[in-house]
Amino acid sequence: HTIQTFLRALPKCEHHLHIEGSLSPDLLFDLAARNKIQLPSANDDPAFASPETLLERYEHFSSLDDFLHYYYIGMSVLLHESDFHALAYAYLRRAHHDGVMHAEMFFDPQAHTERGIDLDTVVRGLRAGCAAAESEFGISTQLIMCFLRHLPATSAHETLKAARAAIEDDGSITGIGLDSSEKPFPPQLFESVYAEAQGLQAAATAGMASNGSGRLRLTAHAGEEADPSYIRQAVDLLGVERIDHGIRLAEDESLLKRIAETKTMLTVCPLSNVRLQCVKSVAELPLRKFLDAGVRFSLNSDDPAYFGGYILDNYYAVQDAFKLSVEEWERVATAGIEGSWCNQARKAEML
Ligand code: ADE
Ligand code: ZN
Repeated sequence: HTIQTFLRALPKCEHHLHIEGSLSPDLLFDLAARNKIQLPSANDDPAFASPETLLERYEHFSSLDDFLHYYYIGMSVLLHESDFHALAYAYLRRAHHDGVMHAEMFFDPQAHTERGIDLDTVVRGLRAGCAAAESEFGISTQLIMCFLRHLPATSAHETLKAARAAIEDDGSITGIGLDSSEKPFPPQLFESVYAEAQGLQAAATAGMASNGSGRLRLTAHAGEEADPSYIRQAVDLLGVERIDHGIRLAEDESLLKRIAETKTMLTVCPLSNVRLQCVKSVAELPLRKFLDAGVRFSLNSDDPAYFGGYILDNYYAVQDAFKLSVEEWERVATAGIEGSWCNQARKAEML
């Protein structure tokens, strides 16, 4: 078990974690009862008979969209600032236990505002959970707001406007991303949204994870289910500095070379890719190709309550499949620290 001890102790950064995807079936049922949210009846979907049957259903997702159906129902139980606070804190406690030093957390504002929950309620709750975990565990945290690509760009523009104070004045949002159903919603649909976002100034905050750059940071999911043209568009049209998933990059040699040269980091989520049937097994992921080509990547849990594992489980799965050397693991850890969006002082502490 020395390799497991080594992987736990490795200074890890998580860059691809949807906080709503850390909602376990147990907490989901608890909050539904407490917040008086009607879940689908077991007649309509037998998976909702109990937390146990729901967890069992999660082992049989047929696609990203099949998962997203459950993901959006699940997060409908989140109503109050205290719900978001508890969710963020519980995830960060678990991440700290797995050896995560720095966590960048996605959230989906439109999935909450569409249900009548204010953006401020969501952001205040998440920030409070983050602040509690930062002081208790010494972990650093940042929030990345994702736009839902199945909704029109006009909705994303409105969301960006609503988040302006959180971005420019108090620095509680570090970056933006793009998620939800990938096909048929290519990045080009959101070109104007990202162009507007590039004009915003991110506040420099005092926290140890503060974004030293002054820029709002940009990423997007691309090349998870869709072909590499989505990755190319994200880089060329949205101007992202990171690609979430990006596993289909391996199919385009010239783009692969460019991504390596520009040090664009992929945030790879091995257990997610297996559960959503993007690949049949972790061994099928092009990680050996990425390492050999100098493509930087981090390893992440995506939606750990749905995909059967937190970040360390993803590290273990990669080790089982690829038997990386200590030097290669150190390279992965260093790329993750350097690719993080915290300031240089925090990176130096982790290196
Ligand atoms: N939302 C939550 N998880 C996601 C994923 N893996 N891909 C796209 N959207 C998501
Ligand atoms: Zn994701």
